[in-house]
Amino acid sequence: MEKIILTGDRPTGKLHIGHYVGSLRRRVELQNSGEYSKIFIMIADAQALTDNAENPEKVRQNIIEVALDYLSCGIDPEKSTILIQSQIPELTELTFYYMNLVTVSRLQRNPTVKAEIQMRNFEASIPVGFFTYPISQAADITAFKATTVPVGEDQMPMLEQTKEIVHKFNSVYGETLVEPNILLPDNKACLRLPGTDGTAKMSKSLGNCIFLSDTEDDVKKAVMSMYTDPLHLQVSDPGHLEGNTVFTYLDAFANDDMFAEYCPDYKKLDEMKEHYQRGGLGDVKVKKFLNCVLQETLAPIRAERVKWEKDIPAVYEILKKGSEEAEKVASKTLDDVKDAMKINYFEDNALIKEQAERYGA
Ligand code: TRP
Repeated sequence: MEKIILTGDRPTGKLHIGHYVGSLRRRVELQNSGEYSKIFIMIADAQALTDNAENPEKVRQNIIEVALDYLSCGIDPEKSTILIQSQIPELTELTFYYMNLVTVSRLQRNPTVKAEIQMRNFEASIPVGFFTYPISQAADITAFKATTVPVGEDQMPMLEQTKEIVHKFNSVYGETLVEPNILLPDNKACLRLPGTDGTAKMSKSLGNCIFLSDTEDDVKKAVMSMYTDPLHLQVSDPGHLEGNTVFTYLDAFANDDMFAEYCPDYKKLDEMKEHYQRGGLGDVKVKKFLNCVLQETLAPIRAERVKWEKDIPAVYEILKKGSEEAEKVASKTLDDVKDAMKINYFEDNALIKEQAERYGA
């Protein structure tokens, strides 16, 4: 069977290094592996509006930011189709039909939706559109017959919901939709990169991010003030790795070549960790190394971004072409869905003939 990727992001802000290790870096590898016949990357503006209904300008301004981040990380419009969700009306239509296959109580049990409702203080007045966005996400995935969805761990409930909809649809209306598989990062540190304050997941609203477009100076400042081990007061004290953000970031970003280049005292991360735990390795040295690692990772992305920033109209042209291409695919799936559901009255000569006969014409 053809292998097809669909994934995406809500345009509510610039993308940060948590997005990078959680999904973006992988997408570029998958794109360049040549194993996938089609790759669709969606800027999910309609989904962003489900909890930003009063703030459309924020969504509108961030579409270009997300597109610039994609392109500067190495998403290649020749190999991947970048699309804007709202420009594919078929997705809304699919959502409407899928809604009949999902119960209110099933949506209420979705852990991601539950957590988001709490975070946004929606308890008393949940917008219906927000409540049902997992169904719309199932439409995003199935419209492109995606087999593979590379996303972060927080999207697992969405994939489960999608699989349930696919099963239900296929069992009621006949084999039509393709069941997708989630593809999670294989490195544990990448699953849920903590913010620079070490408290929670990196998130714009918590102000604990390093953005892909941050300057060299911003990155350095963030690294040097990063949370480490509160018990590691003197260099000679034994240090702890558990919950130590600097080491979590090294797990996510560092490789052996970077040790050779920037910190030749150690061959690999395990050696550095051992020394830290034994005592005698200061936080500043580790942070300086992390800064080199992040600068090496981010410098090419930043440079690529500057190039694209000089040609914003070209970026919109890429989005327009991508959306048009995507619509063709989604439109074909919508036809299949309507055929399966038998809402194809004008194309169904048998129906017209049978009813005409019944009325004895
Ligand atoms: N829910 C995803 C997020 O918050 C964005 C998204 C929308 C998505 N549609 C998708 C991700 C389809 C994967 C597949 O980041």
